Amino acid sequence: MAMKYERITFANPQELSLDSARGLGIVEASRQDYRAHRIVAVKLEVPENIKKAIELFKKDATIVQVYMPAGTCSASFMHFAGLDFLDRYVIACVNVAKSDFTLKKRRLAVRNGWEDRETILDIAAESFSHDSRFRWAADMGPRDIKNVLSEYLDASYASEDIVFRGYSKDDLVAFLILERIGEEAIIRLAAVDAMYRALGVAVELYYEALEYCRQADIRALSGRVSTSNTSAMNIYSLLDARFSQAEDVYITMAK
Ligand SMILES: CC(C)(COP(=O)(O)OP(=O)(O)OC[C@H]1O[C@@H](n2cnc3c(N)ncnc32)[C@H](O)[C@@H]1OP(=O)(O)O)[C@@H](O)C(=O)NCCC(=O)NCCS
Repeated sequence: MAMKYERITFANPQELSLDSARGLGIVEASRQDYRAHRIVAVKLEVPENIKKAIELFKKDATIVQVYMPAGTCSASFMHFAGLDFLDRYVIACVNVAKSDFTLKKRRLAVRNGWEDRETILDIAAESFSHDSRFRWAADMGPRDIKNVLSEYLDASYASEDIVFRGYSKDDLVAFLILERIGEEAIIRLAAVDAMYRALGVAVELYYEALEYCRQADIRALSGRVSTSNTSAMNIYSLLDARFSQAEDVYITMAK
């Protein structure tokens, strides 16, 4: 399967050739540049050749991220190769036909479309200021994070993703971006203004996404979620999601 979830990290990934990487267990590699940073993401199936793989991609990178199926054995290989653990992700998948989740009370006014983009960007920049998906390097400040997210939103707009905007009275307080791929929909990004958290706002938007899927004959609603993001995990659980494809992300700075 192509790296369907990759765009969650990179707005404009440039696919890298794997010709010189044969036999190393590399499934995919892509690169994104930001200012002086050249970030390369490598997806590996097996950890045995990690050292060789890193040498190969380090030449053209300032940062290498390695994505591996989660497993205790990969941790020791990564440590040996000088990589640090960054995060563990799982795919949350809701079987739309089977989920009977409903909302008793709806308090948000939900609208579709890319109006109020600047407020969406402000909420995103505040919400993802320390998120390793967008903060690729320690020297990136708030303006850098905002630039990266702005590119991300532009890519999302260009791909005709669907955006749900949640309003409390006249204030935009939350958004959720959904990409449709055939009979499947993927939640790319969702965030709630910090002042409005833990009030059920996100649940309303995820419910809106589920309703959209029900009406659009979409069979699966999924998202890639960090296991440390317990609020997001809990929301997917409410929607009766199943969790699978645990994946660990490691990082190393190229010298
Ligand atoms: C993750 C995030 C979107 C959650 O938004 P939120 O509006 O605070 O979430 P909600 O209030 O809807 O849900 C919060 C909690 O209430 C629970 N809850 C809400 N409505 C509920 C209901 N009707 N029944 C049972 N539980 C409910 C949720 O399960 C969740 O659990 P928690 O206590 O572990 O957090 C928000 O914290 C955020 O913007 N974080 C930064 C960005 C981010 O991580 N985005 C998600 C990944 S892209």
